[in-house]
Amino acid sequence: MARGPYRLPVAAVRPLTAESTEVRFDVPAELAEVFAHEAGQHVTIVREEDGEEVRRSYSICAPARSGELAVGVRHLPAGRFSSWVADGLRPGDALDVLPPTGRFGPRIDPAASRHHAFVAAGSGITPVISIVGTVLAEEPGSRCTVLYGNRRTDTIMFVEELEDLKNRHPSRLQLVHVLSREPQPVPLLEGRLDAERLGALLDALLPPDSVDEWYLCGPFEMVRAARALLRERGVDGARIHRELFHADPAPVARDPEPDTAGAMVTIVLGGRRTTFAVDGGSILEAALRVRSDAPYACKGGMCGTCRCRLVEGEVAMDHAYALEEDEVGAGVVLACQAHPRSERIVLDFDAR
Ligand SMILES: Cc1cc2nc3c(=O)[nH]c(=O)nc-3n(C[C@H](O)[C@H](O)[C@H](O)COP(=O)(O)OP(=O)(O)OC[C@H]3O[C@@H](n4cnc5c(N)ncnc54)[C@H](O)[C@@H]3O)c2cc1C
Ligand code: FES
Repeated sequence: MARGPYRLPVAAVRPLTAESTEVRFDVPAELAEVFAHEAGQHVTIVREEDGEEVRRSYSICAPARSGELAVGVRHLPAGRFSSWVADGLRPGDALDVLPPTGRFGPRIDPAASRHHAFVAAGSGITPVISIVGTVLAEEPGSRCTVLYGNRRTDTIMFVEELEDLKNRHPSRLQLVHVLSREPQPVPLLEGRLDAERLGALLDALLPPDSVDEWYLCGPFEMVRAARALLRERGVDGARIHRELFHADPAPVARDPEPDTAGAMVTIVLGGRRTTFAVDGGSILEAALRVRSDAPYACKGGMCGTCRCRLVEGEVAMDHAYALEEDEVGAGVVLACQAHPRSERIVLDFDAR
């Protein structure tokens, strides 16, 4: 796989709301294949700041196979990267970008007749609008329902694009805005998109047994609560897909360190094997000391950039937000979250 990063010119910088910006890239023809994406994937932008490398992932908002590469960035107060996007980024600048990755979206099937349902808050709409646009264009028998939480109308990212999709596919897209700080004509649509409100919305508008695939994207607590509610209502965990943008460091349920200090880890990356010792810290941290090309972005178990396959030995992961349950069972590992549990371990980054 082409790893990059690749330097891409910024074609456009467009305010979406007072606190979010769309960044559109010019992808040169020779990189079109490298940057072709599936719906719901994200790219990682790498920036040097004060001699330190800053890596941040952003979901692609454009539909798959559109030939477009664009992301929507919400400005965070004092956010290191997003504040710079808000204040310093201009068209004509160039950014170092890693190729698209991630498995949040569906495998598109033009013959399918499915109901895809989305629960998103704030910037969590970014991968959702890509998936919805792709499904509506490429799965003519399928329909989508989007429950989207924001504070006020003027903080809704991609509000016009969502309305446009709704106008073009009125019978196939149901769009429900829930606003926490703006009066709504229907009380059900006013407030936070928490478990109680989501439960009431399912009762009123979206019976879980009418839905084939669920996609949850937003803050950790919303995603956690929505998943728990859906599981309570009998939804199979394999049908609930999650994308987390941020999680405060949660307590780690790992067993106390067994005696694996000095465990030897071999990684296979780009066809090359490298062996090193791990003494505390994650396997990714140890790998980066000897292989600076080891892939990573968030180091928090959310983006999945560091995914690899366990070929030999045993590891324990602190968090595996970016993995589906069946992937964990099948030996997929997030190196940034992995700690040795055996004296010898082999991880293959080429067989992700
Ligand atoms: C797979 C993936 C896809 C993502 N897609 C998008 C996207 O499409 N649009 C987008 O705007 N962001 C997205 N993010 C989040 C993004 O990568 C950055 O984390 C975010 O922009 C903050 O970076 P920063 O440098 O501005 O803030 P930082 O300097 O890293 O953080 C500033 C403060 O805000 C807190 N914080 C960091 N991120 C968040 C957050 N998302 N919500 C609330 N508090 C936070 C931090 O704990 C810190 O206190 C995505 C993240 C992942 C893992
Ligand atoms: S670097 Fe993001 S999940 Fe490991």
